[in-house]
Amino acid sequence: MSNPFSRIFTALLVARAVAQWPDPEPYPGNCTIHDPSLIRHTNGTYFLFGSGGNLRTAPSLSAAWTERPDPLPTGFGAPDVHLVGDTYYMYHQHDVHGTNLYSNISVASSLTMETGSWVEHANLSIPENFQQYNLIDPNLLIAPAEDNTPEKYYLSFGSYWHDIHQVNMSGPLHVSSAPIDLEYNHTTGLGLGENPSEGSFQFMWTPVAGGKRFFYLFFSSGYCCAPTYNIPPGDEYKIMVCRSENPSGPFVDAEGKSCKTENGGTLILGSHDDVYAPGGQGVLYDGSVDGGSVILYYHYIKNFKNTAHPATFGWNKLDFDAAGWPFIKKIS
Ligand SMILES: *[C@@H]1O[C@H](CO)[C@@H](O)[C@H](O)[C@H]1NC(C)=O
Ligand SMILES: *[C@@H]1O[C@H](CO)[C@@H](O)[C@H](O)[C@H]1NC(C)=O
Ligand SMILES: *[C@@H]1O[C@H](CO)[C@@H](O)[C@H](O)[C@H]1NC(C)=O
Ligand SMILES: *[C@@H]1O[C@H](CO)[C@@H](O)[C@H](O)[C@H]1NC(C)=O
Ligand SMILES: *[C@@H]1O[C@H](CO)[C@@H](O)[C@H](O)[C@H]1NC(C)=O
Ligand SMILES: *[C@@H]1O[C@H](CO)[C@@H](O)[C@H](O)[C@H]1NC(C)=O
Repeated sequence: MSNPFSRIFTALLVARAVAQWPDPEPYPGNCTIHDPSLIRHTNGTYFLFGSGGNLRTAPSLSAAWTERPDPLPTGFGAPDVHLVGDTYYMYHQHDVHGTNLYSNISVASSLTMETGSWVEHANLSIPENFQQYNLIDPNLLIAPAEDNTPEKYYLSFGSYWHDIHQVNMSGPLHVSSAPIDLEYNHTTGLGLGENPSEGSFQFMWTPVAGGKRFFYLFFSSGYCCAPTYNIPPGDEYKIMVCRSENPSGPFVDAEGKSCKTENGGTLILGSHDDVYAPGGQGVLYDGSVDGGSVILYYHYIKNFKNTAHPATFGWNKLDFDAAGWPFIKKIS
């Protein structure tokens, strides 16, 4: 076939046929962000932090986002914000891009999340192993107390090198174990030389009422940031999920493949329509979305064109199938 129009038309039809995800839920205006961390203040206001020291706030997820002054004078990368007791903690990375030797993870805290209220604490002393992992993309999981035991804290991070790791924490400020590997994609043959997984997010949820509680491990697989024209189609960021009955694994995908030893990982959101390279995701339960829903939020490159940081904020409802695996569902 040499007719280029017919080829383009066929390609469009194929693209339509494989487009399996709804668009991000709408909001007015635009919201540029990279590696978003979304949290609701106890007074209801949404705070959205992003790499490069960005902060935006909004009264609801369907309202316009207001840009706020950078919260920390020193800036931050890949923030992850949680409320512990009456204090908000922001885990964040110090990153010299693509250089594992100079990355580190530290934590700041605030009682209000307002710009100027954040106090930077020391770097977390995560044992260094530059051959194995890169100290980037922290995420805190708090597993509630069971019986008479105290609640437990786990920090996942990494990594681009050997993918996703986790340390135990004794409270929000102190690392209390050596890192273990949670997920590692051993597949070889990527053009750019690695099989990167990064940007992990741990989420505890009981998907079927009265059923088992699971620990879900979401992560971004592929390349987030190189100029798009250098990334072979399919190797750009996409969002994967694995799960376990324990916070530290072993994690498997929906087909039962190990996410550490068998390259497991179930794709829940990839490029589609105007959404290119979605990733940097997080997950939270929001009582005011669709009568109470889990939501997935992420950044993506809009219209496949803007290859520079930052990207655009997107979110969707996350529903769960009968087997307890999450999928994206349109609500608007
Ligand atoms: C998006 O935001 C940028 C910077 O805040 C602004 O310059 C631009 O006009 C906005 N675009 C739209 C479509 O709102
Ligand atoms: C990270 O921070 C810890 C604690 O301050 C420090 O011991 C370590 O040298 C730092 N690592 C890097 C790569 O800066
Ligand atoms: C909630 O508190 C934050 C931090 O002080 C503030 O920026 C925001 O305006 C407050 N929102 C409401 C609805 O009071
Ligand atoms: C944490 O580590 C980073 C990267 O090595 C470094 O730039 C920063 O100064 C350190 N911060 C503290 C408080 O030690
Ligand atoms: C982390 O904590 C859990 C729960 O207390 C424990 O079972 C596990 O052995 C710890 N992991 C490491 C690497 O020490
Ligand atoms: C593992 O890497 C391969 C090669 O880049 C990629 O095609 C695949 O989607 C990755 N799998 C996961 C679970 O991230």
